[in-house]
Amino acid sequence: MAPLSIAIDGPAACGKSSLAKALARRIGLYHLETGGLYRSVALFFLERGGPTDDPHRILDLLPEMDLSIRPDGSSSREIHFFLGDRDVTVDIRSETVGKWASTVATIPAVRTYLLPVQRHFAENDRIVMDGRDIGTVILPDASLKIFLSAPAATRALRRWLQLGGENAPQSLQEIQDDLEERDRQDLARSIAPLTRASDAIDLDNSRMTIDESVDWVIERLPK
Ligand code: C5P
Repeated sequence: MAPLSIAIDGPAACGKSSLAKALARRIGLYHLETGGLYRSVALFFLERGGPTDDPHRILDLLPEMDLSIRPDGSSSREIHFFLGDRDVTVDIRSETVGKWASTVATIPAVRTYLLPVQRHFAENDRIVMDGRDIGTVILPDASLKIFLSAPAATRALRRWLQLGGENAPQSLQEIQDDLEERDRQDLARSIAPLTRASDAIDLDNSRMTIDESVDWVIERLPK
């Protein structure tokens, strides 16, 4: 039987990763934040060739990219992102990298490249993955699928607070505009758009603490 796998999908900054991380700690799963893969491709692209007007230039660079993922070795079971030997898990967090991640994610060859990287873990280990297409494309047979949502204003506020509130490099409105633009791009792309899997369970956790959301998911795990 395949190991336990949990898919959490939803739009940018809806709290997917915080939920997945807390869940992984509580019940002992690996956690792969799949946005980190697209962000790693974007970072590689920005450092090697871009930004340029033509994101398809990434296709020329893909053969040179040495992207891998490895557990960080701590009890938290987070999976880190590497370009060659360099751990880029922290460097990929910037808003610029996030925007370019959303752009490179529209390119089919990039998604095809990243597919086996994501599936490999689920074949061998208990895992929770968060992203946009986990329940629909990456793990269509996941043991449990959650589709998370929260209004754009709530998500923007969370992201703004994460980035330091008044000290954030962007205003709350700019962050909300960027999130909405990213949602448009993620929903409109022809390949693996952000979609709710037909067998996913909906969760709007805007009024729940992370612990409450984790309890909610655990109650729905297959017995
Ligand atoms: O989740 P995060 O904001 O880090 O993801 C960055 C970008 O990567 C998203 O805007 C989305 O376009 C893309 N992505 C994706 N499929 C996933 C995860 C992320 O297309 N499974």
